[in-house]
Amino acid sequence: MPRKIIIDTDPGQDDAVAILLALASPDEIEVLGLTAVAGNVPLALTQKNARMICELAGRRDIRIFAGCDRPLAGQLVTAEHVHGRTGLDGPTLPEPTMPLQEAHAVAFLIETLRAAPEGEVTLCPLGPLTNIATALREAPEIAPRIREIVLMGGAYFEVGNITPAAEFNIFVDPEAAAIVFGSGIPITVMPLDVTHKALVTAPRNAAFRTLGTPVGRAVAAMTDFFERYDREKYGSEGAPLHDPCVTAYLIRPELFRGRHVNVEIETEGRFTRGMTVADWWGVSGRAPNATFMGDLDADGFFGLLTDRLGRLT
Ligand code: BDR
Ligand code: CA
Repeated sequence: MPRKIIIDTDPGQDDAVAILLALASPDEIEVLGLTAVAGNVPLALTQKNARMICELAGRRDIRIFAGCDRPLAGQLVTAEHVHGRTGLDGPTLPEPTMPLQEAHAVAFLIETLRAAPEGEVTLCPLGPLTNIATALREAPEIAPRIREIVLMGGAYFEVGNITPAAEFNIFVDPEAAAIVFGSGIPITVMPLDVTHKALVTAPRNAAFRTLGTPVGRAVAAMTDFFERYDREKYGSEGAPLHDPCVTAYLIRPELFRGRHVNVEIETEGRFTRGMTVADWWGVSGRAPNATFMGDLDADGFFGLLTDRLGRLT
């Protein structure tokens, strides 16, 4: 039985690859819908990009909902410096024609979780946690109905990418992240500690392009674009492919290794707002609330990704 998921996303080239991987893996994953949130770029672009990606995958049947256009508190911070003006710079993709659903993403989340059997639906947030936290605030009774939240966000050993202390998704909406991490729902986290090991090297990028399909070419163009910024910043041999770690985990969890630890969200620190304080060494005495990943089999990950993307034409 494929695992039923809702992907909450702010595409984003790496979000796009995560979504394509899920859509290419129907034996393991059933995508109930995509919920867009403001993050890498404003909501008007993230919901549009989500539709472009589904059309690229030939999946006009996927329902896409627009959600929150700003964090619970404070101003929206975006990342055009990483993702480009559109959020999906790199490939040339046609304007989407598939519709956006009328319902708000938060209403979709709440209704779907209320209607599904308890413990059936997994949430996969790839952006700021505003939609998920808003749903939990409006309908707290959905929390025990969620099977698991598998999210990209945070960092411990890698510390931060948008500030010296904070990772982008958590930094954009720390109040939302605090609600999610305090919810008691089983959580698996793909932090920068893992995603900075998922580097798109030149041969891995070439493998996408060599697929010779529209999806392969588009993914190669996306990761090429992403590459410029991250290579300059980190001087590494390729750009980290963050969000696909989430969907890859659902397909092949054995590629990842981590620890079940306590993770608290810093919401007040003058220099550390948005930091994920992960008790990796078990020194706090606080109860574990998340499985925080620390390592992955990068070759296995890229092998899986290339193989699955090759199944989309
Ligand atoms: C995260 O922030 C976004 O820029 C990426 O899409 C990813 O979800 C990495 O910090
Ligand atoms: Ca993202």
